[in-house]
Amino acid sequence: MRVVAERTPVAAIVNGERREAFVEPRRSLADYLRDDLGLTGTHVGCEHGVCGACTVLVNDRSVRSCLMFAVQVNGQKVLTVEGLGADGLHPLQQAFHEHHALQCGFCTPGMLLSALELLQINPTPTEDEVRRGLAGNLCMCTGYVNIVRAVLAAAATAS
Ligand code: FES
Ligand code: FES
Repeated sequence: MRVVAERTPVAAIVNGERREAFVEPRRSLADYLRDDLGLTGTHVGCEHGVCGACTVLVNDRSVRSCLMFAVQVNGQKVLTVEGLGADGLHPLQQAFHEHHALQCGFCTPGMLLSALELLQINPTPTEDEVRRGLAGNLCMCTGYVNIVRAVLAAAATAS
């Protein structure tokens, strides 16, 4: 006999908009964002909480969306990279562009959201603090130097 998992209603504020869906209790937040809401800017790499590609903000705190269940964001506020650039390029996106802080771009959405969390907590970080703040986000391409430069430049622009 085929067992069909019951679906649970989830209502969250995603990028400033109330979004509702019925999801299986085991559905990851990453799959909910990408497949149910069409927000494919959140990338999925390792699916084990290691690479940081799937990082989004829930109530202004970074989370690995591959390790969270969608039902856990019921009633919460979620920010994905699509919400970051809603009104033109965010200063962090502009700085990544100007400092050539991406190559393939796979890590970039997660990097941007981790950097945003860092700057919200510490608007004037040192280089070491930026490196520590982004330590959970892996990049296969850039060697990190230009990413760190971009985050420092965005911080300088904002301060
Ligand atoms: S895909 Fe979530 S941490 Fe790698
Ligand atoms: S730019 Fe390719 S993984 Fe970071």
